[in-house]
Amino acid sequence: MINSLRGFRDLLPPESDLFARIEAAAREVFGLYGYQELRIPTIEKKELFVKSTGDTTDIVEKEMYAFTDGGGREVAVRPEGTPGMVRAFIEHNLGQTGRNAKFFYVGNMFRAERPQAGRYREFTQIDAEYIGNPSPAADAETISMLLALLNKLGVEGCSVELNSLGCGDCRKNYREILLGYLRGRAERLCEPCRGRIERNPLRALDCKIDGPWLAGEAPKLQLCPDCAAHFADTQRLLGAAGVPYNVNLNLVRGLDYYSRTVFEVRSTLLGSQDAVAGGGRYDDLVKSMGGPAAPAIGWGMGVDRLAMLLKDKPAPDNAPKTFVIAASKEAGDRAFALMTALRAAGISSDFSNFTASMRSQMRSADKSGATFALIIGEDELKAGTAAIKPLKAPGDQTPVPFADAPAQIKKLLQG
Ligand code: HAM
Repeated sequence: MINSLRGFRDLLPPESDLFARIEAAAREVFGLYGYQELRIPTIEKKELFVKSTGDTTDIVEKEMYAFTDGGGREVAVRPEGTPGMVRAFIEHNLGQTGRNAKFFYVGNMFRAERPQAGRYREFTQIDAEYIGNPSPAADAETISMLLALLNKLGVEGCSVELNSLGCGDCRKNYREILLGYLRGRAERLCEPCRGRIERNPLRALDCKIDGPWLAGEAPKLQLCPDCAAHFADTQRLLGAAGVPYNVNLNLVRGLDYYSRTVFEVRSTLLGSQDAVAGGGRYDDLVKSMGGPAAPAIGWGMGVDRLAMLLKDKPAPDNAPKTFVIAASKEAGDRAFALMTALRAAGISSDFSNFTASMRSQMRSADKSGATFALIIGEDELKAGTAAIKPLKAPGDQTPVPFADAPAQIKKLLQG
């Protein structure tokens, strides 16, 4: 017996149904906001992630599944989708189509993190990216779209944490101030933070060990007037869209490309892995990856975590509506044709084994959760009928001609 790897899991029903429902709801919402789907590769050149996600981030430094392939190429299995999406945007000139560059993708991501509840090494994200609009209205729209999706799914108990990381200039000044502060307290920092403060002091704010005490004590980022106005406008528009949020000056996010608005949706019902979704602006990334100057904003939502929040909600009934039973091989042939006709009429149908005893087939029908059994015994076969028997309510068997069965079942299901 070979088991699955730690942190990699099978998605079984009903959780797999829940994933499909979440994805269907997302597709509907994306349609309302003018988003189109992009499907990007699972494996990219390693340097794509090193340059965009950032070489001092935990994701790239510790968690990436990177390897040299048989042809000597340095590749990585995607830990997140934004770099691949930006690459595709540049590679295919997606800014030139005449339509808003609003894209979504659904896919599995891979991070070699320590597995725990809500944290897996392979997980599914639904992501939205809007490239080319610097306006605060794009920020507010993107965040309110995320909330519209969560509301549509009936997710409760979530809060939106919001912050602005300012532009490159704001962060350049802040970097110096923070670096001075951290140098003076190097002995209090954890080993990895001490090693990287010179390269990326802001990362210490996101560190799981040092972040909490730094949040209380370290100097705060001061926004330049433009960034402050952008942040104020974003908040005003979020208010206009009826989105509740908390400004959280300690929110820095663990990826390097963010500028200005960053946000996270958290749930108190999730324990330590409480982020359901996270995102922000990345105004400089497209240009830095060799594309046009194109400000952008997006988010990624963890479907596994969302499924945890929704698992106790009543699921729609996906049991077959009909279960077909036959008394003999010959009756089985008719039953098979009948099932085909039922499905063609849009009525779900299932069966067990037409050569098993009628009793055993009846037991399977009951277990399936079907609403009606359609029985073809020897008498029915001779008469050219099927007997309809209600399974969820008391009622007698009613014979109907084969050809009328789908229409009759439809009527009964509607009634
Ligand atoms: P992220 O915050 O790294 O952002 O991931 C987004 C979401 O993916 C998280 O909020 C969480 O729900 C889920 N997630 C992350 N890691 C795991 C894991 N190990 N197991 C289960 N779920 C997980 C990004 O990935 C950015 N690309 C989002 C973005 C798009 N920013 C701009 N555009």
